[in-house]
Amino acid sequence: MQKKPTTVVLIITGGIAAYRALELIRLLRKEGFRVRPVLTKGARAFITPLSAAALAGEKAHAELFSLTDETEMGHIRLAREADAVVVAPATADFMAKAAHGLADDLASTLLLATTAPVLMAPAMNPRMWTHPATRRNTAQLRADGVEIIGPESGEVACGEEGEGRMAEPAEILARVLALIQGRSAELPLSGKRVLITAGPTHEPIDPVRVLANRSSGRMGYALAEAAREKGAEVVLVSGPVALSAPAGVDVRRVETAEEMLRAVRQALAEAPVDIGIFTAAVADWRVKNASASKIKKGPEGPPVLELEENPDILATIAQARAGRPKLVVGFAAETENIARNARAKLKRKGADIIVANDVSEKTGILGGDETELLVISRTGEETRLPRQSKRAAARALLDLLSRHP
Ligand code: C5P
Repeated sequence: MQKKPTTVVLIITGGIAAYRALELIRLLRKEGFRVRPVLTKGARAFITPLSAAALAGEKAHAELFSLTDETEMGHIRLAREADAVVVAPATADFMAKAAHGLADDLASTLLLATTAPVLMAPAMNPRMWTHPATRRNTAQLRADGVEIIGPESGEVACGEEGEGRMAEPAEILARVLALIQGRSAELPLSGKRVLITAGPTHEPIDPVRVLANRSSGRMGYALAEAAREKGAEVVLVSGPVALSAPAGVDVRRVETAEEMLRAVRQALAEAPVDIGIFTAAVADWRVKNASASKIKKGPEGPPVLELEENPDILATIAQARAGRPKLVVGFAAETENIARNARAKLKRKGADIIVANDVSEKTGILGGDETELLVISRTGEETRLPRQSKRAAARALLDLLSRHP
């Protein structure tokens, strides 16, 4: 008997990114999925059902009360047949509707009727994405078990910069694969516990001022998301960043290096950790003479700050006798002699693996969306991960780590 193909119901909602959903159809088909496209009224202002149908090799559904579809209860059948439902692009409006369980068209109705995993790829103007209403709706959808991928930052169609671009179709495909495999197959990190540090630390000068750095936390958050996708239980110890918690990840927020070390130790004491990944840009120094009250401007002139060294979290944990993760991975941001400096850091800190990247200004890696990594292990192997988005690099790195003996 022939095996029934895995069916992805792809809901396309009305945004300029709708045309990129066509590429997603092509990729899903190439992977062997049956794709059943559903276009909202908004989507039909951007692309035609005919182009979606041509690529899918199937009828593209549009109307809830289409006579022919509804005699067979089209929305219920579509909902039942789906092994996964993907909404790409997902507009702010559609997410708001879904968060509240409204069902006034085919797309929103089948979303309520399905028990399949749901993945949404938001695409909208960056200000709409950061609006408290959208934040609220996104949090509600996550709480309801919906997986969210993206949006990515970069220039969006309206010319503004910021988070709002739909995730790359190839990345959406990867997530669909994980979603579907997550139900039926073992994932590479199933049963593993992963601990990640991310972001900068803030070292107080007084109750209102801090010493900080420009780390965005993106690499650490991308790793947390990727580790979770690959089946791991993830604890993310995060310094102050402007990123939202990845779905299904246990995020523990801290401010200072000392708090970060404490949170890491706490996580290690709770249960053994298989992989510890230290991406945080921990401040090297803290203010020794931090003031308990706000320092006032006055005739005595500016205050003199006395600094003292912070603990090196990576080195402390890598060299700990008890509770050390089985695999300790550090990061090395270098501007010159990348490999040589990284090898030296690997030894000095006692890590098993150092992941080096070139953060000299010309690369645009620091604070940017893309990265290129050189993975150096204690046993001498070196693997280069070519330039790609931080999310894709995170997945590639975790694949490497999951195969590490
Ligand atoms: O020495 P350097 O800061 O370049 O080392 C970078 C690596 O060490 C990163 O993995 C970083 O997270 C970790 N680190 C740390 N605690 C510090 C300083 C760095 O965990 N105080």
